[in-house]
Amino acid sequence: PATRTLRYSDAMPVHVVDHPIAQDALAALRRSTTDAREFRRNAARLTTTLAVEATRTLRTRNAEVETPLGQASARLVHGEIVIVPILRAGLSMLDPLLSLLPSARVGYIGLQRDERTAVASSYYRKLPKQVADARVLLVDPMLATGGSAINALDLLKGVGATETALLCMVATAEGLSAVEAKHPRTAIYTAAVDPILNGQKFIVPGLGDFGDRLYGTD
Ligand code: PRP
Ligand code: URA
Repeated sequence: PATRTLRYSDAMPVHVVDHPIAQDALAALRRSTTDAREFRRNAARLTTTLAVEATRTLRTRNAEVETPLGQASARLVHGEIVIVPILRAGLSMLDPLLSLLPSARVGYIGLQRDERTAVASSYYRKLPKQVADARVLLVDPMLATGGSAINALDLLKGVGATETALLCMVATAEGLSAVEAKHPRTAIYTAAVDPILNGQKFIVPGLGDFGDRLYGTD
């Protein structure tokens, strides 16, 4: 199967996307010799495979379309979709998602982990006005302590979001449990669950600092 489901609690299960393309892209992202160009390309490949799984349950409506040879029954994606990347690293996931969901609205949440404490604080927020009836896809490639995701989900809940899914590339069991404890109704999709966080709260083996590798900063 392309997806394994894990349970850390009675909350929504965590979906680990085992699809061969997802795992191939993840390997490239993890490899320390991958340069920024290849890193960006594989971030997009991985996002697409995660998105296919995470959008399986989108609402659709029945329709009829005219083909050159007659009428066909069709199903169209239906309902509001809002994509929310957490800056900066989540930006790598935005364009591939918009390619699949071209009518989605986009909100931004800027969060930065303190280098010493690893606690995330918010520096920017711009969200669409109506999110209560929308399917909200929160995207951030790294789920380490879970602090950033919890901060963003608190914010989304605060503006009325009810149906949220979190798409990430590498998570930890610790981070997943923390998110589930605070937001048990959020569906989580990831390509990997890594074993540990080091002293600086970096995921091991992980892939390093995603934002720095994406943008060539350090
Ligand atoms: C990274 C990453 C997540 C967060 C995960 O962002 O993109 O947002 O850390 O860690 P957590 O689960 O322990 O909160 P960072 O703060 O380094 O900012 P950046 O994306 O701008 O590099
Ligand atoms: N953020 C990253 O980019 N990498 C980690 O391992 C943890 C947080």
